[in-house]
Amino acid sequence: MGLLEGKKALIFGVANDKSIAWAIAEAFRREGASLAFAYNGDTLAKRVIPLAESIGAEMVLQCDVRSDEEIASVFRDVKERWGGLDILVHSIAFANKDELKGSFLNTTREGFALAMDVSAYSLIALAKEATPLMEGREGVILTLSYYGGQKVFPNYNVMGVAKAALEMSVRYLAESLGGTGVRVNAISAGPLKTLAAAGVGGFNQIAGVVAEKAPLRRNITQEEVADSALYLCSNLARGVTGEVHFVDSGYNIIGL
Ligand SMILES: NC(=O)c1ccc[n+]([C@@H]2O[C@H](COP(=O)([O-])OP(=O)(O)OC[C@H]3O[C@@H](n4cnc5c(N)ncnc54)[C@H](O)[C@@H]3O)[C@@H](O)[C@H]2O)c1
Repeated sequence: MGLLEGKKALIFGVANDKSIAWAIAEAFRREGASLAFAYNGDTLAKRVIPLAESIGAEMVLQCDVRSDEEIASVFRDVKERWGGLDILVHSIAFANKDELKGSFLNTTREGFALAMDVSAYSLIALAKEATPLMEGREGVILTLSYYGGQKVFPNYNVMGVAKAALEMSVRYLAESLGGTGVRVNAISAGPLKTLAAAGVGGFNQIAGVVAEKAPLRRNITQEEVADSALYLCSNLARGVTGEVHFVDSGYNIIGL
């Protein structure tokens, strides 16, 4: 029997087949979960809908996480179709490209608010809607972070501040929701070539340093993140909440 047999998982953040969320979806499906996807915008529809169909997704819903109405509509559809929810994956981030290069001092008020809204606050907004659907089901919420939320990396700038807020939100949500049996965790992934990573200046340089300095002397893969996501979202991790779990070839333990 698969680790997620009978579980219903709603996944936000598939843009294409390189997305971390897509690797997570494939791992969840392999282990028996039923899947629903939420994607943002018409331009992504032509990529995400065929991918979702290829994996037997039961729902493919449009949602810009900046909109409370669109979020509410997704969870209404999920409630109607499934009656409840076991797993929520939040694999979403956005900041203006101009603010992901150069000096952090160039962060604008609008850019700061946008990065925080999409990349951090949205986890709280989704958790608010998901929790009532998880009642009595030992639900799990998982988000994706990066080490740039704990230490300074060139060009990561405002996204680092948003990831710091996201990681702290994981802890506060874990405390808020623990009484209902819902667990909330994050994976802090090493650099991976995706659409989002392409927006960060000097990405290749960062990946090169990881390959040279990380204990495993290599970069990680989307599939390695997905397998850790499987653990965190399955009964194997039933005692784990409020955790930021590194999947980064061990890079974060290195001092110099
Ligand atoms: N790629 C990396 O190196 C890396 C490393 C660590 C953490 N992460 C994190 O993993 C997560 C997924 O990123 P990815 O690398 O798979 O890239 P990706 O571009 O495939 O995924 C990012 C997703 O965010 C979605 N998104 C952006 N704005 C949105 C909005 N307003 N409403 C709804 N969805 C929105 C995009 O549509 C896209 O599907 C992000 O949180 C990212 O910060 C990525």
